[in-house]
Amino acid sequence: MPGFSTRAIRAASRAPDAPQPPVNVPIYQTSTFEVGDALELAELLEFQRPGHSYSRYSNPTHTALEAAIAELEGAEAALATASGMAAMHGVVLSLLHAGDELIVPSAVYGGMLGLVRSILDRSGIGHVSVDTTDHAQVEAAITDRTRLLWLETISNPTTAVADIEALAELAHARDVLLAVDSTFASPALANPLALGADIVVHSTTKYIGGHSDLIGGVLAGAAERVAAARSVVINAGGNAAPFEAFLVLRGLKTLALRMERHSSNALAVATALEGAPGVERVLYPGLASHPQHDLAMRTFRDGMAGGMLAIELEGGRDHGERFLGRVRVAVHATSLGSVETLVSHPASSSHRQLDDAELAAAGMSPGTVRVSIGLEDADDLIEDLVGAARPGA
Ligand SMILES: Cc1ncc(COP(=O)(O)O)c(C=O)c1O
Repeated sequence: MPGFSTRAIRAASRAPDAPQPPVNVPIYQTSTFEVGDALELAELLEFQRPGHSYSRYSNPTHTALEAAIAELEGAEAALATASGMAAMHGVVLSLLHAGDELIVPSAVYGGMLGLVRSILDRSGIGHVSVDTTDHAQVEAAITDRTRLLWLETISNPTTAVADIEALAELAHARDVLLAVDSTFASPALANPLALGADIVVHSTTKYIGGHSDLIGGVLAGAAERVAAARSVVINAGGNAAPFEAFLVLRGLKTLALRMERHSSNALAVATALEGAPGVERVLYPGLASHPQHDLAMRTFRDGMAGGMLAIELEGGRDHGERFLGRVRVAVHATSLGSVETLVSHPASSSHRQLDDAELAAAGMSPGTVRVSIGLEDADDLIEDLVGAARPGA
């Protein structure tokens, strides 16, 4: 009879049979899977047979999340990653080679610029930044080397809304692919692939997860493109973790409800802030004053405009910093898309990579504050944020 240690390890490793399907996707907290022979393992590692070999390559909890995202984005395939940045990295490095060029919006998440500067620049992949709400600028920026146009459905933090349909047409006419970071919109508001994009990415850290308790990302598109990105992500070690994938799946179940409340709360707060003392301008796609309001209402489901708004305060940087210190219901923290309202100062957080000229080109002033409206009671948020915006010490 084997010794106690041997028996304990064997006994504790036996996966149960579960004839009745569990209502929730189990967390497959395992790094590796037992195989029958060397050929089986080799074929699994090459994705030549269904199944799992090693969790950096695939894991059943990831697979469940990938199938859910593919279905909700109307994609052939999807890939779950360790973070939104890992998804973005997988997309750009699978599509671009040395000598190629990428067009990025001047108003874009600062992490995208970090990716361009820390990895693409030194890989010989060039980039140009243009105002992607001005299609003539996009057209003029396309050269023989341009392979990819990058957009955000709603830009971080200025809430510019991209005309994905028109820009997909423009890009494809010049043999340029279109990738869309749809983090601010989530699949509940828009499906970029249906509008003509070739690939969509999300930071699931934000609305899809929805509770500020995980870091994750996904990308989705045609099976061939997702397979190419998967190869980059496997080799860079950017795979999702099973527990995080479980949390993202849980978040997906309430995404639609949360987006409805984020959108109605944000509209109420943006309306109250517009013209309030100390406020120069409120940027929220749900407001009639927003430059792309009509496009937003055409593009997003059920008249929703999401939970993100940007506030320009009259007193610039000092006023912005004072605002952050004054909020009592909202929380001063970076990140967004969660149940609690989060306020941040892009010039010193998400966009700290930008100098003042680049901030201006991205449509921001040093005093712009970003608000991710949560699910609290709208009246409490209005009192808190209108109060914090009031001028004076
Ligand atoms: C629009 C957008 N895309 C991507 C990311 C990166 O996501 P993550 O932090 O999950 O890597 C963020 C993070 O703030 C973001 O706001």
